Formats: sequence, C-alpha cells, structure tokens
Amino acid sequence: MITVDRGPVGHGRMLRKEDRRFVRGRGRYLDDITLPGMLHLAVLRSPVAHARILSVDTLAAEAHPKVRAVVTGAMLAERGLAWMPTLSGDVQAVLATDKVRFQGQEVAFVVAEDRYAARDALELIDVEYDVLEPVVDVRRALDPDAPLIRDDVAGKADNHCFDWETGDAAQTAAVFDRAEVVVRQELVFPRVHPAPLETCGAVADYDRVEEKLTLWATTQAPHAHRTLYSMFAGIPEHRIRVISPDIGGGFGNKVPIYPGYVCAIVGSMVTGRPVKWTEDRTENLIASGFARDYVMQGEIAATRDGRILALRSHVLADHGAFNGTAAPRKFPGGFFGVFTGSYDIEAAYCSMTAVHTNKAPGGVAYACSFRIAEAVYLTERMVDLLADELGLDPVELRLRNFIRSDQFPYTSRTGWVYDSGDYAATMQEALRIAGYDELRAEQAAQRAAGDGQSLMGIGVSFFTEAVGAGPRKDMDMLGLGMADGCELRVHPTGSAVLRISVQTQGQGHETTFAQLVAEELGIHPENVDVVHGDTDNTPYGLGTYGSRSTPVSGAAAVIAARRVRDKARLIAAGMLEVAPEDLEWTKGRFDVRGVPGSGVTIEQIAMRAHGAGDLPEGVEGGLDAQVSYNPDNLTYPYGAYICVVDIDPGTAVVKVRRFVAVDDCGTRINEMIVEGQIHGGLTDGVGMALMEFIGYDEDGNCLGGSLMDYLIPTAKEVPDWETGMTVTPSPHHPIGAKGVGESATVGSPPAVVNAVIDALAPYGVRHADMPLTPSRVWEAMQGRATPP
Ligand code: CDP
Repeated sequence: MITVDRGPVGHGRMLRKEDRRFVRGRGRYLDDITLPGMLHLAVLRSPVAHARILSVDTLAAEAHPKVRAVVTGAMLAERGLAWMPTLSGDVQAVLATDKVRFQGQEVAFVVAEDRYAARDALELIDVEYDVLEPVVDVRRALDPDAPLIRDDVAGKADNHCFDWETGDAAQTAAVFDRAEVVVRQELVFPRVHPAPLETCGAVADYDRVEEKLTLWATTQAPHAHRTLYSMFAGIPEHRIRVISPDIGGGFGNKVPIYPGYVCAIVGSMVTGRPVKWTEDRTENLIASGFARDYVMQGEIAATRDGRILALRSHVLADHGAFNGTAAPRKFPGGFFGVFTGSYDIEAAYCSMTAVHTNKAPGGVAYACSFRIAEAVYLTERMVDLLADELGLDPVELRLRNFIRSDQFPYTSRTGWVYDSGDYAATMQEALRIAGYDELRAEQAAQRAAGDGQSLMGIGVSFFTEAVGAGPRKDMDMLGLGMADGCELRVHPTGSAVLRISVQTQGQGHETTFAQLVAEELGIHPENVDVVHGDTDNTPYGLGTYGSRSTPVSGAAAVIAARRVRDKARLIAAGMLEVAPEDLEWTKGRFDVRGVPGSGVTIEQIAMRAHGAGDLPEGVEGGLDAQVSYNPDNLTYPYGAYICVVDIDPGTAVVKVRRFVAVDDCGTRINEMIVEGQIHGGLTDGVGMALMEFIGYDEDGNCLGGSLMDYLIPTAKEVPDWETGMTVTPSPHHPIGAKGVGESATVGSPPAVVNAVIDALAPYGVRHADMPLTPSRVWEAMQGRATPP
C-alpha cells in the first residue's frame, strides 16, 4: 500500500502545495496567457544613453500589413500619459518625448498581429537623435560642468536627486575625535540586477463597453499598481482588475511600474483588443530596476582593546535617469539607517547624496529590505578592517561588541527598535558547525608551509535585518500605508479559503499561509486554499518585497484564524450547551474542560455555523474573518555566516569551498521552505560577491545586457550549503515569526568578500571591490586598487 505523507497539521516541514503544478509544467505564467484576438506589443528603445529626439517617423511601420498601432511619446503627451509617477515620488517617461536619458529607454511602441511582426516593424521606425554627452561616472554627476540630465524638471540646474541623513553628526564626530583607533575605507557596492528567471510582462485587456481594464502583470504589488494606474490614467479604481499570475521570481525587480505595463494598457485602449508585452532578457537587464550602485565612505572608531565606539558613512547613490526606487516615503535612503548592524555602539551618523546619471532608473531593493544589503556590507567590511588593524580575530571582535541578549528590545543609535535576539548564541552555533578553530589552524599550517599552491581564506559576517514594513505611522508609499490584509472563510464542510494581499513569486505562500491557518484551526493545510495576486478577489495590501509577507500578511492570517476560532468557541458552546469559558481548545476541536473527547470538531462547528437551527444569541451565521494588519514594529531577523574560499594564486580564481549559514528568523512556519529561501539567497550573494556586475562604457552603453556578460552563479560555482538555526521569536508577531526571504542575500556578500580578503592577507591586501572576478583579485594581488 502506498501511504502519502500529507504533512503536519500546522507548522513544520511540508512539501510545497504549488509544486504539484510547477513540476508538471502546469504553472500559469504571464506568457502562458493568451486571449482571443490578442495582439502583441514591442518597444523601440534608445540605442544611446543621452540624446535629444529630433524626430520620430512612424509611417513605414504603420504601413506594415500586420501592424495595428504605432505609438510615440508625442501621442502619449496629447493624452497626458507621456510621464508616469514612480513609487518614490519622481516621474519617469513612459515614452520619451524630449530626450532619451539612458540606453534602452522606451521611445515608441508597435502593436501587431504577432510578436515577430511587432519586432520587425520596430526596424521601420526612423528616429533622429542629437546625441549629447552622457553622465556615466557617478562621482562626476555633480560637477558644475556635468551635462544636465533632468531638464524636464522646471528649475533644475544639476543632477542632484536627494540628500538624506540619519544619526547624530555632532555626537559621532565627538566620539571619532577621542577614539584611539579610526579606520577608513571607500567601499563600492556595484550596480547589479535581480535578473529573475521570468522577465517582466503584461497582458492588458480594456473592455470599451464595460469600461473595465483587466491587466495581467508580473507585479509583486498588484493592489498598489491598481491604485497608481487609476490615479495616473484616470480609470476609476473599481474598473481596474490587476491579476498577478504565477511569477518566476521577483527579487524586487517586479515592484516598480514599468513603461511597458502602461504601454500595454494604452495599446489595448487604442486597438480595442487585448495586448501582450513581454520583455526579452536584454530589455530586462538594461532597462528594468537595477539594484545597489552605492559608493560608500566608511569610518569606524574603536578603542585599542577592541571596543567599537562609532560608525560613520557617506553614501553617493546612483539612481540612474529617474528615481525608480521603491522605498517607504520617509526613507529615501531605504533602511540604510540600520547600518549600525548588530553592535552596541555609542554613536552613528550617515549622510547620503543621491544623483542622476544616464543609466537605467532604480534602484530597487534586490532581495533585501530597502537597502539593508548595502548597509550590512558596509558594516561587516568595516568591522573586518578594524579587526585587521587591531590584530584581533574578526569573530572575537564581533563577540566583544554584539548587542547582548538582555538589551532587547534595543534602540539603535539611528532609532530602530530591534525586537529580539541572542547574537552570541547564533555566532557560537556557526562556529561549531564550521569548526572555526580547526579552519584557522589549517590556514595557519598552510601559510607556514608556504607552498604557494592555494590561498585559503575564512570570512565571517553577522547581520541584522529590519523586515516587515511597516507600521503605518512611519511607512507608506505615495501615501498608501504599508499594512496588509487577509480574509478567511471556513466552508460548511470544514475546508477553507484564505485570500491574502501579498503575492508570491516562488516563496511558497500557498503552502505556508495554509499552514498558518492549519496551526490555528486544526484544518489540514491541504484543505486550505490560498488565493493571491488578484485585486478583485483579495483584500487590499501593498504586496511582497522586503521579506514583509510573513511579518505583515502572515500576522493578519493568524489573527483572522484566531478570530474564527473565537467565534467557533461561541458556536461550540451553543452546540454543547455549556458556557464558552468551559470549553478547552486542542488543535481542531473544543471539548468540555476536563472531559477529553466530549466536544465537537472544527468541521462540525463549521457545518453548524452554516447549517439549519439556531445559533447562540448574537452570533451571526458563517465562519469568516477579515483583518488588515498594521504591525507594531518591524521584525529583526539575523544570522551568522562563515565562508571558506580557496584562491588559485596562478589564475586568481576564487572557489567557495564551504559556506555555513546560521539564521534566526524566530518561529519557522516551514523549515524546508525557509532553507530553500536561504539556499537561494546565498547563491545570490556569492553571485554578487564574485561575478555579477552591470557596467557601462564611457558612452553609457550597458555592458551587462545578456547572460553572457551578466554572470549569475550556477550549481558549479556554489558549494553544498551548510545551514543551521537558532530560534528567538519576535515578541510582537502573533506566532513569533520574523521574515527570512532575503536574509541570505543580505548576509552573504560580506562573508565572501571577507574570506577573499583574508585569503589575500599574505599579499598585504586590505580591500578590493566586488565583483571579485579573477582579474580584480589578480589586480589586488599585484597591489593595484580596484579599477573604477
Ligand atoms: O515576503 P516574502 O514572502 O518574500 O518573505 P518571507 O515573509 O520571509 O517568507 C518567505 C517564505 O518563507 C514564505 O513562504 C514564508 O511563509 C516562509 N517563512 C517561514 O516559513 N517561516 C518564517 N519565520 C519566515 C518565512
């Protein structure tokens, strides 16, 4: 007999429900959507980084027999649709009207009977450009003679985007003045790209009779997109339905609104037929939301015996041609303010200057909570540099300076209230798994032998993230508060449907959210369906990014289930003719206190809630609840990572030999899914540290426009991950869970870089910038700084 393991009734390891369709090729991604009469849209993009548009001739393209519409920026301008708002309060050209401001910018689009014809017709559009000098070097963007990029903004005279600061400048300066040791280093976190497996796309279907728009789109935030389309295009919000189907990875890339989505909507309005737009890989890499691109001046102050006193940094942030960041309005620098990391220090100050350049707009939070990856990288490199300066083991320096477990809740010097933690315990667990002392002994022996065959490096990082944006009082996007909702309905036969406002892109929400309900109600997760990604059928919320689903919508799901349970108690009391307080809950049933087996199951209660007969006085029929959850605080997951690398001194190739990751994300709903999230994030981190890079030449040509140039790691480049965990629940989340989706992407780059620099210690190397490709490592070994 075959027995099927249906998994636990609640939290625990359980195979992903959604994988039944994915492993059978039955996922329904954007490009799987085909509607009767559907047309195809292709976008004409600028070949140059900066140019004035002198003319756009579309006559030949319009004459193509399969073309149904050709639309230019000038045509959009007539309808007031040429510019759209970005999620960070800037505007971005849907189609260029005056100038192009980055290579790959949208200039015109064609709608045709098929994708090939649409692409062919692009070739028939004749655009005359007056090429202008581009701004490519972020350090030159504010030079008085730098070309002005944003002359669309009235009164703008330079390429300045915004300034931002956090912490206490004067206090920090005073601490630096009296510090025995100060270490300074410029660190570049280069431009990288989330590069999801599935590129962006949309199918727009505007019904001219009903005046209703249905938009299938690869978005991580369907509700927010709906609101913005309504505000921008003037379509009443209740006449817009955004459906986010199965999504092949987002990592922040699918948070912004892209011109292509708007073009698809306009294309459908103009032609009266459904219109599909799908990016190709190059379009995705050169024109959609990039990440990072920070030049950071780091400073760390300490006592000679290894007490960290203060951190200070100045960031020069490259936001490209338009500020396309998606970050809560109060935090233009994202959550970079959490840069004091995991350490109990006296003072901290950070200032940031963001500028425009002739590059694709951004930068999105690539698998991190609004710029925490950059902050963690800065701090964890500076701590290692300090350890080197003091001649201390980097683990020892961290252990001496961690926030102690008895200091939680801990208010950081930049005002963040960390909820819970026991950092030393997590670090000790990582040291145990790695066999840290043995590794150091092996390294010492290798160096003593001096055979020059291989350079072994050991890198450590310890990160604290702030995820689950966020309390509405502090966090909104374009005025929309960052709460999230869910609605739970229990059917008469005891199965249930949970509708959530967050949107999975592969993280397994259909499983874990069902498990949350299962844990609270005792209904098996197989009997709880999770509906998401459809604005007509889910409650309002701001979507999935920054690991916020579990901290926000997950909390909403638990609270909804508990409300259902409270109502079930009243109904059960009526059924058993006892007082509600005389009932005892064990998962899935209420029994009369002290008499096990005397009561009713959740299924029986559900039937009664919907069935014939009276319910107790004041109790309405049905077994439903709806919740919009406004979190009290963010959650603060953390982790200790240890990376071991071997560098071939002949070729300067870095091989990651081992990687130990001990994560603490509080209560884990599904350990298997959490491990999967960590494996993926670690792979991302190794990619960023060693190979991923969106570069530009001096003319502003993007050099990372294909997966031949933009390298992402494969199974060959990463080791078997060694994971461990500690569990320190969040005190304010209903089940103590903290977000984890992005922890590993945040924590791993500094561990890898620290390992490489450690390996290069015999060469006197102090620092080299990512990506640590063989050529960069080789340059460092020759004593040369990383080229800009
Ligand atoms: O917002 P996003 O889904 O990307 O991130 P998350 O909330 O950290 O969740 C990622 C996946 O891990 C989801 O399926 C979560 O339900 C699951 N998870 C978990 O099982 N236990 C946790 N403590 C946190 C997340």
